[in-house]
Amino acid sequence: MTAPRKLGIVLSGASGSLLALQALRLAHSIADWESHLIITEGGQRTAELELNSQQRAEITALADHIHQDRDLAATIASGSNALDAMAILPCSIRSLSAIAYGQTDRLSIRAADVMLKERKPLVLAVRESPLHAGHLNAMSQVTQMGGIIAPPVPAFYLGNLSIEDMTRQMAARILQLLGLDVKDQRQAWEPPG
Ligand SMILES: Cc1cc2nc3c(=O)[nH]c(=O)nc-3n(C[C@H](O)[C@H](O)[C@H](O)COP(=O)(O)O)c2cc1C
Repeated sequence: MTAPRKLGIVLSGASGSLLALQALRLAHSIADWESHLIITEGGQRTAELELNSQQRAEITALADHIHQDRDLAATIASGSNALDAMAILPCSIRSLSAIAYGQTDRLSIRAADVMLKERKPLVLAVRESPLHAGHLNAMSQVTQMGGIIAPPVPAFYLGNLSIEDMTRQMAARILQLLGLDVKDQRQAWEPPG
């Protein structure tokens, strides 16, 4: 039997912590992947403000492994034991900038840096608007290093989706970018008629 592939999910302090919960729900339903969750200090705060206690408990229950953001000695901090795919969702400007400029003093940033140096897939669902030149420069920098910037934008073309459906669709798109087989859950655009 082959070992499961390792999916890193970071819940950072941008608004939209529900996205991380949706990603973990989807990942949990896909065989052959195990999830490695990091919740940043900012992410703890936004999750407390945006999710109810049941949703927060579900996040930790769904994760196969939970790492502390201060634990720079965790397995996934090393290129020799890197994740196979990683998403920061939602991704704050602070986390984006730290990755763009190699400030690897937190596990979430170090693990992302490892993904880039090992040429493995990394998606940042950067959530901020409007954007100034510094934000755009950091996004450009990460893109040039091989990362994918995928802001969580709603699929308006799918009609009047609930927040629940909309965030599930966004999370599915991000996992699909990382190579997870989420085709069945993702609602794709079909022309009418
Ligand atoms: C309720 C709330 C919403 C926030 N929303 C955003 C956001 O959408 N984007 C962002 O970049 N920062 C946002 N922040 C600020 C980040 O949480 C803050 O910059 C934090 O230091 C990010 O740290 P982290 O990247 O380690 O999670 C928000 C903060 C709070 C309390």
